[in-house]
Amino acid sequence: MKNFINSDDISDYKKIVEEAIQLKSNPNELKDIGKNKSIGLLFFNPSLRTRISTQKASMILGLKTFVMNFNSEGWQLEFENNTIMSEDKAEHVKDAAKVLSEYCDIIAIRKFADLNNKIDDEKEIVLSSFLKYSTVPILNLESSTFHPLQGLADAITIDETKNKARPKIVLSWAPHPKSLPHAVSNSFIKMAKKNNFELIISNPIGYDLNPEITKGINIIHDQKEAFINADFIYAKNWSSYENYGKVLINDSSWKIDKNKMSLTNNAKFMHCLPVRRNVVVDDDVIDSENSLVISQAENRIYSALIILKKLIENER
Ligand code: CP
Repeated sequence: MKNFINSDDISDYKKIVEEAIQLKSNPNELKDIGKNKSIGLLFFNPSLRTRISTQKASMILGLKTFVMNFNSEGWQLEFENNTIMSEDKAEHVKDAAKVLSEYCDIIAIRKFADLNNKIDDEKEIVLSSFLKYSTVPILNLESSTFHPLQGLADAITIDETKNKARPKIVLSWAPHPKSLPHAVSNSFIKMAKKNNFELIISNPIGYDLNPEITKGINIIHDQKEAFINADFIYAKNWSSYENYGKVLINDSSWKIDKNKMSLTNNAKFMHCLPVRRNVVVDDDVIDSENSLVISQAENRIYSALIILKKLIENER
């Protein structure tokens, strides 16, 4: 694997999930794979799980990590070419990417959508610039449009838990006071398609996601109807895609609660975290024995581990 930008970089998704689950039983087998190599983790946005799980996976592989909070610790980057850099931006991305490629064997980047301009966000200017100018593999730690390591961890978690080959999974919009990106939901949808799960998306009118990504998926605007006989409920908020980045409603009737969970087939509850308790989901759902949120977070280690292994070995 040359880079890991989204799940399409994986040639056989089901196989990689199986490999990741196998690695869990004996990760120490991998301790020399990253020996004498290093990874640079560049964060343009906050993180708990992505930052620590990627460092933990690197540690297992013997890979040294450099972590930089780019907004507060790095020079402000210029992304346009042929500009006269006489204002605030002190370093061009082409220089930064080439320099970092001398120090690191892999460059990993987190840069969320700004949610101001759909066209700009979909250009993925930060990730695509590092892809263009770096001479080492690039790993996406959540970009404007995709969070593929989260999608892979979710696939591992579902595979470990499901009790039928083709479970019914509902990706349900849930309320949130802030404007949130689409990356987690987009990656979850792509992952569910690759695994041929029965996926239903449930969201209020006005919140349909990018139709190119949801193509072929049943979208139901009645949350209770969607929940009937579901095996997994995956809760996530996202801002409007059509009315880009806007919070159109903050309707608490979409919160995940016990009554709605009782409509399901004793469904497991999933969320990528961080989560606003009692806004997105009630405590008695997320703290129930059906909640998989901690397993999902744990599996972030193994999604990072298998992808770092593939990047180091340049193997699909
Ligand atoms: N799920 C996830 O990516 O968590 P962080 O934002 O804390 O990394």
